[in-house]
Amino acid sequence: MSVSTQAQKFGEAEYAKGLEGVIATESKIGYVDGQAGRLVYRGLDIQDLAEHSHYEEVAYLLLYGKLPTKAELDGFDKELKAHRAVPKEVIDVLKQLPKDTHPMSALRTGVSALGCFDADAEKTDVPTYNKIGVKLIAQIATICGAFARIRKGLAPLDPDPNLGHTANFLYMATGQKPEPLAEKVMDCSMILHADHGMNASTFTSMVVISSLTDFYSSITAAIGSLKGPLHGGANEHVMRMILEIGSEDKVAAYLDDKIANKVKVMGFGHRVYKVYDPRATVLKKYSQEVTELRGQGNYYKIAKKVEDYLLEDKGYAAKGIYPNVDFYSGTVYYALGYDYELFTPIFAVSRIAGWVARCLEYLPENRIFRPRAVYKGDRDLHYVPMADRK
Ligand code: COA
Repeated sequence: MSVSTQAQKFGEAEYAKGLEGVIATESKIGYVDGQAGRLVYRGLDIQDLAEHSHYEEVAYLLLYGKLPTKAELDGFDKELKAHRAVPKEVIDVLKQLPKDTHPMSALRTGVSALGCFDADAEKTDVPTYNKIGVKLIAQIATICGAFARIRKGLAPLDPDPNLGHTANFLYMATGQKPEPLAEKVMDCSMILHADHGMNASTFTSMVVISSLTDFYSSITAAIGSLKGPLHGGANEHVMRMILEIGSEDKVAAYLDDKIANKVKVMGFGHRVYKVYDPRATVLKKYSQEVTELRGQGNYYKIAKKVEDYLLEDKGYAAKGIYPNVDFYSGTVYYALGYDYELFTPIFAVSRIAGWVARCLEYLPENRIFRPRAVYKGDRDLHYVPMADRK
């Protein structure tokens, strides 16, 4: 439904379900052009960044508004590396969790615990927010990597200062230093997921920090938002679907059944994009390459068949429902050796840069978010004593 058909006027205010089309803030960080299928970070096209840049540089760009000089990047890199290790007590908290805890819940718990062990956590001046923001970019990867091993009964690994951000993350999660293609593909995916306008988790992080609470509370809430299947959780469900389908010849019957039962296909559709998601274009290419490299080409073929069947045979393209970022990322992560429960945490480890950048941009001119609801209940009832209630 379009904004114009969904929005309703109530006195001075307009109501749009799901805040569709509502402007919540001004920003110079990134722009999503849903009609042209374009995503821009600080004026730079995502395809350009995916090809030439790397995650630390993109995080710097999002945070500070420009590509860093060599000295600036070295300084930022040093800061990230210095913050990588997390307190032993936080690792102990992760070890206390049931092994079958969803890794997104473990990540949420771990980030919340981090705040309890940071003596600066309750300081809410802008320099402290800045410092903790960078710390969170480094430490969320460590927590994700640690729980990836703990849930398998393995000891967490210490960060390796000789590795870049993405390679170190891969190493801490899988126990193996990645080969160049795996590192490149993962790094590229991290860039593609780093920021995306006022998505639900970014908005959540901003709503929470707008009360001038601590950064750990804001990011803990953002992780909770990203976890849902309508947002970052979709990537896990896409992979589950591909495994459930099992082979190309079963695609049509599987999808016909979903469509007949009005079940949404995960990894398809988007609030803003009504054409092909530019992030999915890049990930599709990598999915083909990396699945073939790891002997999992069948998963790419099933995914491609799902795409073709929905877009062409079922008319999804005509309705503006295309694969989104979560559709091909799953096959990429699976081929890189991650269990599908870790896909959404990987998304969080990437999106942290956007969460932090957008909160830091908002804070200097902060105003607490406080929308209203259209009241549809009764107004003039009288209190009924317990004995008279039915
Ligand atoms: N499969 C089938 N139909 C879909 C669809 C999907 N994945 N996504 C949207 N549609 C259809 C809806 O049924 C609706 O049809 P209708 O107008 O006939 O009722 C129409 O497209 C609009 O969808 P709606 O759910 O209102 O859009 P939204 O902007 O509120 O939601 C998403 C956007 C992303 C939540 C939604 O597309 C979705 O649930 N996708 C699957 C989950 C996913 O991949 N999330 C990751 C997003 S990056």
